[in-house]
Amino acid sequence: MSQILDGQMVSKEIRERVKEEVARLEIKPKLAVILVGDDDASQIYVRNKVKTCNSVGIIAEDYLLPSDTIEKELLDLIEKLNKDKSVNGILVQMPLPKHINENTVVNTILPIKDVDGLNLVNQGKLLNRNPALVPATPKGIITLLKRYFVEIEGKKVVVIGRSKLVGMPLALLFINANATVTICHSYTENLKEITKQADILVSAVGKANFISGDMIKKDAVVVDVGINRQMGNIVGDVNFKEAMEVARLVTPVPKGVGPMTIASLLENVLEAYDLQKRDIQ
Ligand SMILES: NC(=O)c1ccc[n+]([C@@H]2O[C@H](COP(=O)([O-])OP(=O)(O)OC[C@H]3O[C@@H](n4cnc5c(N)ncnc54)[C@H](OP(=O)(O)O)[C@@H]3O)[C@@H](O)[C@H]2O)c1
Repeated sequence: MSQILDGQMVSKEIRERVKEEVARLEIKPKLAVILVGDDDASQIYVRNKVKTCNSVGIIAEDYLLPSDTIEKELLDLIEKLNKDKSVNGILVQMPLPKHINENTVVNTILPIKDVDGLNLVNQGKLLNRNPALVPATPKGIITLLKRYFVEIEGKKVVVIGRSKLVGMPLALLFINANATVTICHSYTENLKEITKQADILVSAVGKANFISGDMIKKDAVVVDVGINRQMGNIVGDVNFKEAMEVARLVTPVPKGVGPMTIASLLENVLEAYDLQKRDIQ
């Protein structure tokens, strides 16, 4: 009998815990969220992040810059926020307009304020098995699996997708948790043969119905990271109905990985706040 991995419920638990922790703090944590341009989806993501932060007592300020902002202006703003001791976390909403170099931008953010965990220092720390600020989506996935007591150690994990934001850091987190990990991407041959072996299968591709039931091992755990628009609905990468017939546990879309990402961002803001407090003392 298949069960869902309820990201909505677990995210609520985390938000409540963060709210309690924030309430105990005399000086409230502050997150700066920067958006360049007027991409519809990005605007919604930024609004949601600000709203969720505020709902747990984290001060969130958005900086909305026009799409023709030059790179130097954005870097100057980040430098200003880096120096501002009242700001604990800085997040730049991706994607950025083509004329701005994303790597330069994320590497300008101070590592201890990099709540997206994307700059080279934080990536290196993850590689060194000494993680500090870890990208929110992979972190949320591991938290969700642990909350459902999914065994990771010694298990065969297949991650489809190798992005800096999801696939790569997630694969490292699984390796650090002693899983045996295979990373697949658009050049992978015989994908189905590989996915069929997975005790834990993660799809972070961005294509609706990409994972069908016959690609899933019986009683596997399936994590669907994809967000796709299909006939006015948001769907994942996994054919949910077919997955529920084969797998033991499946994340739904929506209400699976998405809410865990937001909850993990809140945890990262608290983590950044702590890192700075320890740095100051
Ligand atoms: N739920 C959440 O909170 C959340 C957070 C972040 C992202 N997402 C969603 O997750 C999905 C992935 O995001 P992302 O930022 O990682 O995307 P991305 O940077 O576009 O990466 C997609 C990955 O899928 C691989 N891929 C594409 N076609 C494939 C195929 N036919 N077979 C195997 N692999 C294939 C690509 O391979 P190559 O490297 O070879 O191109 C790439 O590594 C998107 O739908 C995104 O919206 C959700």
